[in-house]
Amino acid sequence: MTESQPLATVMKAEALLQQVRGKLGPDCRLYRAPGRVNLIGEHTDYNQGLVMPTAINRFTYAAAVPLSRKELRLESREFEQSYTASLDAIRPAQGWGNYVLGMAAGLMQRGYELRGSRLQIQSEIPFGAGLSSSAALEISTGLAMLGTSQTWPREGMDLVWAAHFSDHHFVGVLSGIMDQFVSTYGRRGCALLLDCRSLEWEPVPLPPDCDLVICNTGVRHALAGSEYNQRRQECQAGVECFQRRRPQVRSLRDVHEDDLQRWQADLPEVVFRRCRHIITENQRVIEARQAFRDGNLYRLGELFAASHRSLRDDYEVSCAELDAMVEAAEAAPGFVAGRMTGGGFGGCTVNLVHQPYTAEFIASVAATYARLMGKKPDIWAVESANGGGELTAQPGSQELLIRAAT
Ligand code: GLA
Repeated sequence: MTESQPLATVMKAEALLQQVRGKLGPDCRLYRAPGRVNLIGEHTDYNQGLVMPTAINRFTYAAAVPLSRKELRLESREFEQSYTASLDAIRPAQGWGNYVLGMAAGLMQRGYELRGSRLQIQSEIPFGAGLSSSAALEISTGLAMLGTSQTWPREGMDLVWAAHFSDHHFVGVLSGIMDQFVSTYGRRGCALLLDCRSLEWEPVPLPPDCDLVICNTGVRHALAGSEYNQRRQECQAGVECFQRRRPQVRSLRDVHEDDLQRWQADLPEVVFRRCRHIITENQRVIEARQAFRDGNLYRLGELFAASHRSLRDDYEVSCAELDAMVEAAEAAPGFVAGRMTGGGFGGCTVNLVHQPYTAEFIASVAATYARLMGKKPDIWAVESANGGGELTAQPGSQELLIRAAT
């Protein structure tokens, strides 16, 4: 599977279903959930702030058959390790299966009765590249486990919270809800503006004359046990400091730039910069929504650039490779806007590119980046996608049908 060819476009739905049924038996059903790229609003989700991700047409697929025993059997095309676990005694394990075991535990905690299932996973989303392969794994397998249990999410947020539970209690990453949310609720043609405090959201139509181009540095980011949780603690330290002055502050969402300047001297220098990133990034998301509405591509370029600088200098989650990739993109034909995306410490940049120039843009960024860093990057255009669901096909039809989760 190459990154430029998503599975569902090279294999039509019927053939895909036949393939998995050939392997797992006639009862086998197929589910999938997309990865995502975040356009703007980085590290704001766990600060009750604003984010603007879009689901992308790179999916994780979970083929599932029911088992008579109340157990989970997990296999993956990409990883050798397989798992067997009793649903009555689910515990964290090591490796990729942990995301799925945590998802099962999260769903049961929300009152879903799970029956036994055997799941076979296949993914088109590069791992550790900041494109939410883990959320796609959680949401696709969550749907599969519900499907084999003859049930379906009562509401999409149950999937989102179960995946969040898995991250926090099984995987050990204190993530926000952006990734799981967009993998569940994604809308083709749109980014989603999500308010992570109120959980209100709206679709933001993407500019029709721009392509979304992802540039992968190939530097693997490891969120678990990394600086991610530390950033969260630093933000919490900021909240506590502001609370001493204004007890009604519950998160950095309640703090304005003026407050930040006024109390700068009371904050440790690092905490001040972390808070400044979050507060200004929320503002940039609001301005980006307006720029998308107005079709103001120039303003989007400014906002993406400011977001990247803030993540690099204030939040310190960029790296030399991401900075070089942004620099290479800014000098390439057709460039509209670009910045690092996702948790950081490696992974990808996201770019808006004027459509007629996409091929030239990709060639130019690849050449400049190779010159700057001595490595060949992976660069490809993606399309926005709908959130996860079950794949079905009418006999004899080539059309891919999705029973959506939401
Ligand atoms: C990771 C987390 C998200 C979010 C981003 C940074 O992708 O899973 O919850 O915090 O980093 O914006």
